[in-house]
Amino acid sequence: MTTGPQEPDARAELFSEERSAEVVNAAFARTGDPRLRDVLRSLVGHLHDFVKDVELTEDEWNAAIGFLTATGQKCDDRRQEFVLLSDVLGVSMLVETVNHRARGVATESTVLGPFHVVDSPPRPLGADISLTGGGEACLVTGRVTGPDGEPVAGATVDVWQADADGFYDVQRPDTVPPANLRGLFTTEADGTFWFRTVVPRHYPIPDDGPVGALLEATGRHPNRPAHIHFLVLADGYAPVTTHVFAADSPYLDSDAVFGVKPSLVRDFAVVEDPERAARLGLPDHFRTVDFEVVLLRR
Ligand SMILES: [Fe+2]
Repeated sequence: MTTGPQEPDARAELFSEERSAEVVNAAFARTGDPRLRDVLRSLVGHLHDFVKDVELTEDEWNAAIGFLTATGQKCDDRRQEFVLLSDVLGVSMLVETVNHRARGVATESTVLGPFHVVDSPPRPLGADISLTGGGEACLVTGRVTGPDGEPVAGATVDVWQADADGFYDVQRPDTVPPANLRGLFTTEADGTFWFRTVVPRHYPIPDDGPVGALLEATGRHPNRPAHIHFLVLADGYAPVTTHVFAADSPYLDSDAVFGVKPSLVRDFAVVEDPERAARLGLPDHFRTVDFEVVLLRR
């Protein structure tokens, strides 16, 4: 007689503290997908080791369930509290790092972050993505190339950033038009792209939810250094999710989500050149940053 999945297995080992992980993993032994089985085996092993290591109390277990429940309840189509939680635990950055080792000459990646929640609108090169004005004007130039320096024409450059007060559009939906400080650009034949914007400010990650409470309870600040997000895609090349960080920003050495890599820090140089400013449609005083993005071939 064969043993079906619904039938108890008389030979199954019963639960014990000593062999708890093995007993639970035996229950997952019929998992058909080998990758899922491996991931679960490791997850169960680490979770059980963790509970035994700290001798988790029932009150603490209840608090953890409450925390995760509140984290889920804080999520909606504009707020992703689980991404924030992953970010402040360094898990987002670790997943990025593990998945993009040994990239050689390629531009380094960093976290996607929780604000890529709406589609960026396609905009022509040179467009001003700041729909509200205010702040210091900024010219962003760049070029997308392959690993041998070849220009990548037709690459999609998706950018999004905080404003001069440190807020994303989705955080101020009542006062800021949708897609403010977002844009989807396409590189020219020589791989170049450019757009106008404002210098972003450093900002706190949303800290009015469970993740903010965690930071508060642990004496951590919620701030991220000033940056512009880039997601660059091109046919035949591996995409890259990254930022360019402003070299004069505070918090470069204590990013709440551990996202800073030295290769991604750039000067946002001051330009005082009224003729150039007039040609670009910018005020006499503006700043500029250049960011070359090197993609690896697939
Ligand atoms: Fe950001």
